Amino acid sequence: MRSIAFINQKGGVGKTTSTANIGAFLTLFGKRVLLIDLDPQANLSLHYGVDIHSRGLSIYQIIIGTNKPDEVVRKTQIDGLDLIPSNIDLASAEIELVNTVGRETVIKFNLENFLYKYDYVLIDCPPSLGLLTLNALTIVQEIIIPLQTEYFALQGVSKLFQTFEVIKKRLNEQLEITGIIPCMYDSRTNLGHEVLDKIKEYFEDKVFNTAIRKNIKLSESPSHGMPIMSYAPDSNGAKDYTALTKEIVDQEENLFKTAIRQTA
Ligand SMILES: Nc1ncnc2c1ncn2[C@@H]1O[C@H](COP(=O)(O)OP(=O)(O)O)[C@@H](O)[C@H]1O
Ligand SMILES: [Mg+2]
Repeated sequence: MRSIAFINQKGGVGKTTSTANIGAFLTLFGKRVLLIDLDPQANLSLHYGVDIHSRGLSIYQIIIGTNKPDEVVRKTQIDGLDLIPSNIDLASAEIELVNTVGRETVIKFNLENFLYKYDYVLIDCPPSLGLLTLNALTIVQEIIIPLQTEYFALQGVSKLFQTFEVIKKRLNEQLEITGIIPCMYDSRTNLGHEVLDKIKEYFEDKVFNTAIRKNIKLSESPSHGMPIMSYAPDSNGAKDYTALTKEIVDQEENLFKTAIRQTA
């Protein structure tokens, strides 16, 4: 099983779009996938047509321990893709968690045993480095950072790295940053090229070869409650996320080798 948190404390950089669409395309590689929406704004849940105003069961009930994951998880319209949705109830969890013993590991404690039936668990994090994000970082092995390919792309990245280092040292020594996704790339502008070069200079080989181009279909698909794979399978958005997903699947071999080396 691979578990990956999509993290960037900035909003609007492509976390949710990446989580939603990579999740869908992974099923085409024969993977069983669980998506977890950890953002109170519940955009990932909207992507899969969940009625977030009905206040149905969500990750919130798992956090407070009133419901088990198998009561909360739901199937999506994509075969092999399940979702633990969020809703606005989650906004109060961050505050409620503050006074909880083991507050960074509550989600791990309540969810961990449920995850093993999946090949991939993808967590869409809120745009902050608060307790919900810290909880995500204690449960996953990997971090993928989506960056908006624009002028301020690298702003805030050092803070994100600090948080990663602290969590790795204190709570989750397995944690690794396994990829950077350049999102909303505009190949027609000089700025687009310059920023992409800068990102590659900074993160070197961590940057995926596939940059996700700006594509209107990607921004339309959530309002139709569908990932790009169903909404516009021939779009550039679908092509880019397919190529990116293939890169992610191709990482398996190396990760497997590293794991063997560590246990040897
Ligand atoms: N490659 C893209 N091209 C066009 N619009 C995009 C692209 N990626 C994301 N968007 C849109 O930009 C907005 C922010 O993206 P989102 O994935 O929700 O970011 P985050 O989860 O980091 O806040 C959304 O409206 C989304 O539909
Ligand atoms: Mg989001």
